[in-house]
Amino acid sequence: MLWIKNGRIVDPVTGTDGVMDILIDKDTILQTGTPEEIAAAGGNSADEVIDATGKVVAPGLLDAHVHFRDPGLTYKEDIETGSRAAARGGFTKVVLMANTKPTVDNVDTLQYVLDKGSRTGIHVLQASAITKGLQGRELVDMDEMAEAGAAGFTDDGIPILDEKILLQAMQKAAELNLPIALHEEDPLFIAQPGVHQGKISEQLGYGGASRTAEDIMVARDVILALHTGASVCIQHISSGNSVDLVRNAQKMGADVHAEATPHHFTLTEDAVLTYGTLARMNPPLRTETDRRKIIEGIQDGTIDMIVTDHAPHSTEEKSRPLAEAPSGITGLETSLALGIRSLVQPGHITLLKLMELMSKNPAEFYRLKPDTIQPGAPADLVIFGENDLWTVDSFASKAENSPFRNRELPGKVYYTICRGSIVYRS
Ligand code: DOR
Repeated sequence: MLWIKNGRIVDPVTGTDGVMDILIDKDTILQTGTPEEIAAAGGNSADEVIDATGKVVAPGLLDAHVHFRDPGLTYKEDIETGSRAAARGGFTKVVLMANTKPTVDNVDTLQYVLDKGSRTGIHVLQASAITKGLQGRELVDMDEMAEAGAAGFTDDGIPILDEKILLQAMQKAAELNLPIALHEEDPLFIAQPGVHQGKISEQLGYGGASRTAEDIMVARDVILALHTGASVCIQHISSGNSVDLVRNAQKMGADVHAEATPHHFTLTEDAVLTYGTLARMNPPLRTETDRRKIIEGIQDGTIDMIVTDHAPHSTEEKSRPLAEAPSGITGLETSLALGIRSLVQPGHITLLKLMELMSKNPAEFYRLKPDTIQPGAPADLVIFGENDLWTVDSFASKAENSPFRNRELPGKVYYTICRGSIVYRS
């Protein structure tokens, strides 16, 4: 048994924000309450006691947008190192994207990931591709992938340009009651990817990716969501106009959701001047106006999930010139910290709301029972210091492609507990 003493429980399922003790027996929360209640439930024979005084105890975090590059690109990351990075960031569940080599568009590859994931200590879920080879031409066998345990469907990294294919995919996803998540960037409006088309791209003589690339696809796809009734997520939203489009579609009755990444609500296009390729991502960092609209969307619930788009790349790849380096940054180990620094500390949202965006809402979108701190619930928890500072000076991930390297940030994670076992301790 494990006794967690005197922590501040912040649980978005029950709405609790208050001090309590927790007793864990094997993989389940046995009791919550006062020290006397825990002792009465058998706490005195606990094998380990964690003093959580002054620390937050929250349900395990869920990152619904992660790239572990396994199979095929394991020089960047693999399922074991990615899971260690997740645990270090406070995550007990991750949903992996399908742009591996081979693509997760078939049952064998899905099974490979799920088998390897089941040996990591955390919960590794895998999304299926929507189209074979992410080519946008032919649907995967969605029935078969659902049957084999796919968490949902996405061609993340690549937009689906053919609306007939996407219409069919949404109809099938709705029939299967599984979510569908979309990367929204029309290449027609992208001269060069990864940097916002605006003042910085002009200054650098770089083509850039316009806001229209995202807006035009979001406008189309929220209407397809309304038409089909599918549960649709606009992935890593970056444009303020797109936030407005999602908000309107929700008012119209579409089951549309949206993700924001810590980098999109923390940084702007200017970061490219400071961090070079470490600020190159798809969709790109945009303007302060877009960043503020993303924060407004988080505040009013239009954006209901915070995800990292953890996109590990090697140091050599990221050392290439801006036009040749791959897009994306790692995020699992800095996500909680940036949520606190950029959203909670300035007073945009409460810590309870942050936990909702990082645990409860993504779980519900992926049809999972959200983690909660109540007797009988799975013992999946994170213990962190809301304002305790730490320096981003090492990574459990294989990759180090983060613009937040060497930054001092709050939200130090002390323990991540999954199925009652400590999978990370600092
Ligand atoms: O910047 C990105 N990198 N955006 C994506 O959507 C894909 C990701 C990757 O796989 O590297």
